[in-house]
Amino acid sequence: MSGTSLDGIDVAIVDITGKRVKPIITRTFPYAKAAREAILSVSNCMTHTATIARLHFLLGELYAEAIREACKRVIKLESIGLIGMHGQTIFHEGTPIEYLGHKVASTLQIGDPAIVAERTGIRTISNFRERDIAAGGKGAPLVPYVDCLLFQHARKPRVSLNIGGIANITVLPPKNSRKNAFAFDTGPGNMIVDALVRKFTDGKQTCDLNGDIARRAKLHNQLLEGMLSDPYFDLAPPKTTGREQFGQDFANGLVATGLPLEDLIATATELTARSIALAITKHASPDSEVIAAGGGVHNSHLMARLSSLLPAARITATTEFGIDPDAKEAIAFAVLAHEFIRRRPANLPAATGARRSVLLGRETPR
Ligand SMILES: Nc1ncnc2c1ncn2[C@@H]1O[C@H](COP(=O)(O)OP(=O)(O)O)[C@@H](O)[C@H]1O
Ligand SMILES: [Mg+2]
Repeated sequence: MSGTSLDGIDVAIVDITGKRVKPIITRTFPYAKAAREAILSVSNCMTHTATIARLHFLLGELYAEAIREACKRVIKLESIGLIGMHGQTIFHEGTPIEYLGHKVASTLQIGDPAIVAERTGIRTISNFRERDIAAGGKGAPLVPYVDCLLFQHARKPRVSLNIGGIANITVLPPKNSRKNAFAFDTGPGNMIVDALVRKFTDGKQTCDLNGDIARRAKLHNQLLEGMLSDPYFDLAPPKTTGREQFGQDFANGLVATGLPLEDLIATATELTARSIALAITKHASPDSEVIAAGGGVHNSHLMARLSSLLPAARITATTEFGIDPDAKEAIAFAVLAHEFIRRRPANLPAATGARRSVLLGRETPR
C-alpha cells in the first residue's frame, strides 16, 4: 500500500485463516525523494506520458523489493500465498464528469503487478477500485469492508478513523442494531499540514512531528471558520476527496494569506481535527469508541484536539486490536486480496455508492 501522503510503501505480512486476521510483520519503506517528486509531478497532471509509463514499471520494482526486504529473516518468500497490491493512486475522479459527450468516472493506480508477480513468484491481486466504479460507485473508500470485519462490535457503536493524507471514517453501528455501516472521507488529514511544514522547514521536515509546531503556534479563527465553510464538509455521504482539493494548491492558498507559517500549521491542524469531529458528531453516536489509524495518530497534538472536541467518545488506536496503525491499510488490502480469491464481493455500496456488491481486483498469476 502506498497512500496519498506519498511518504512510502507500507508492507504487511498477514496470516489469514477463516475470519482471523493476524499481522506477522509490518514495515514502511520511505520513498526516495526523487521517486516521491516524480509521483507528485504525475499526480498533478503536469507530465509526459513516458513518465507515467516508466513510473508504472519502476513502482512495480520498488513494491517487489519492499516485499522481498520485509520477508527477510521473517518468513520465506515462497511461503507467501498471495499479494494484495493497491498501487499508487495518481488520479482519482470517483464522481462522473461530462467528458466527450459521456459521463465518465475514473481512477488510476500505477505500479505494475506483472513486475511484482515476476520478481516474487507470488500471485498478485491488484486494481481493486475499477470494478466498483464500473458498478456506479466512487471506487473509494474500500477499507470500510475490512473495518466491518475487524472492528464491528455486537452491541457497541464504533467508528474507525484513518488519518492519512486525507482523513476518513467508517461508522460501525452495533451488529445487532440492523443499521448498516457506511463510510466517507471527512476532508484533509495530514496533507495540508505536511505541505506547510515542508515549506516552513525548507524541506528538512516532512511532517509536524508529534504536532510540536502546531501546539506552540497561534490559531487564526477567522481563517479556520472560512475553511470550515467549504461546501465539502456539508455534502451528504458517500463522498470522497483527495490531493486535488486538499493538497498543495490548498496549502499555497494558505501561504498566500501572508500569515506566519507556524500559525498556518496550527490552523490547518485544527481544520483536520474540527472536520473529523464534525463528521463524527453528525453521523455517528456521540459515545462511539473511535479506533484511529494512519500516520496522524502520531500527531499527539491532533489526537488531543480530537479528544477534547469529542468529549463523549473514547478514542483509541488500532494498536489495542493488535493492528499497527501505520499498517492498517496495507493489512486491509491483504484481506481484500483474500476476499477476491475466495470470490467474495468486497465493496460496501453504502461507502462507495455502487449499485451492487462486486468482486474487487484483478489477478496476475504467479
Ligand atoms: N511522528 C509523527 N508526527 C506527526 N505526524 C506524523 C508522524 N508520523 C507520521 N505522521 C503523518 O502521517 C503521514 C503518513 O500517514 P499515512 O497513514 O501513511 O498516510 P497515507 O495513507 O496518505 O500514506 C505523514 O505524512 C505525516 O503527516
Ligand atoms: Mg503512507
